[in-house]
Amino acid sequence: MSDTPVTGAIWAALPVPAFLIAWRDGHEMILECNPAAELFMATSSAQLSGEPAFDRLSIDAPIEEAVERARANRAPIFINDADVCTGDRPPVLCNLQLAPMNDTGQTLLMLIAPREIAGRLGRTQAVKAAAKSAIGMAAMLAHEIKNPLAGITGAAQLLSMNLPMQDRELTDLIVAESRRIVKLLEQVEQFGDQRPPDLAETNIHDVLERARRSAIVGFGAHMRIHDSYDPSLPPTWADADQLLQVFLNLLKNASEAQPAGGTIRIRTYFERGLQLRGREGRRLALPLHVEIIDDGPGLPAEIAENIFEPFVSGRENGTGLGLALVSKIIAAHDGWIEVDQRPGQTVFRVSLPMAPAPGTRSKPPRTPKETR
Ligand SMILES: Nc1ncnc2c1ncn2[C@@H]1O[C@H](COP(=O)(O)OP(=O)(O)O)[C@@H](O)[C@H]1O
Ligand SMILES: [Mg+2]
Repeated sequence: MSDTPVTGAIWAALPVPAFLIAWRDGHEMILECNPAAELFMATSSAQLSGEPAFDRLSIDAPIEEAVERARANRAPIFINDADVCTGDRPPVLCNLQLAPMNDTGQTLLMLIAPREIAGRLGRTQAVKAAAKSAIGMAAMLAHEIKNPLAGITGAAQLLSMNLPMQDRELTDLIVAESRRIVKLLEQVEQFGDQRPPDLAETNIHDVLERARRSAIVGFGAHMRIHDSYDPSLPPTWADADQLLQVFLNLLKNASEAQPAGGTIRIRTYFERGLQLRGREGRRLALPLHVEIIDDGPGLPAEIAENIFEPFVSGRENGTGLGLALVSKIIAAHDGWIEVDQRPGQTVFRVSLPMAPAPGTRSKPPRTPKETR
């Protein structure tokens, strides 16, 4: 990193921890790191050079897989909200960027930007708790509003019976808009539902078929839905109804992203390798993958980084709760969701664990998400 005085100076001045890593001897090795990284790791660059990067840094996200993909695609990858541990320090919430360095893309630049400087853990937890209670309140309110709204709708329908045709437009408007509000409230209620998933051995293809059937008679009636299932996929450990909601929301978004007659593909496959690394270094394997692929224009650039946050929508009548609910459910299942954008193609990939041997239980939820 000191090819010229200027690049050397930039490297030294960079205020975020930066590492150069490359695949050597069966590991992602640290080649070099900048002074901010030395501070972050509380050790010197000389000590770190030649060390396996992900032995020194424990990252609560499938980082090795992301590195491989950044290298293979020669494109940068962003991972938001991952907990990063070094040594025995408590985890720090960070945003990560992986960027291939040169033409061959073998060397990668990894930037680790802590989300906040001091007391970050306490504060993010406080923010999360506040958001949780706000959502709980919104869910209660949603429940309370639905009853009087049903009364209003019923009254409008009664009223319309005695009205001349030309005035019914107004009562129809009341009924249609009330239904729209009820739908929104139902989504808020669902999002506020704090019950843990009722986990059991679940056949992913059964759930996908239920989702597909309800899509083709409803919101996806105008779409072609193809599947390519791996018939040998073992069962996952999930709440089938919640998983159904995940696939429905993803199929709905895929069909809303394309004009009538568009194609949605559902693909399942088994691939070992994707692992989440927990804070105590425990590893969680996520070998079951489901992809919902559409040929639409992709995520609007201005919201691409935040699509999993509640109330972030790129649609005029969107609530922004669909993907927030998806992400919440997947986190509660110890799974992983990511979105992969290629020209002309948007891929939402859900990765899930295999059903454990009887007697073992699932682990606490996590929330990092990756966008590109
Ligand atoms: N398959 C997709 N293709 C393009 N954009 C998408 C896709 N899925 C989601 N999005 C974008 O993400 C936003 C958030 O989605 P979501 O949380 O389901 O909320 P909503 O659908 O109510 O807007 C959408 O408004 C849309 O802009
Ligand atoms: Mg949606």
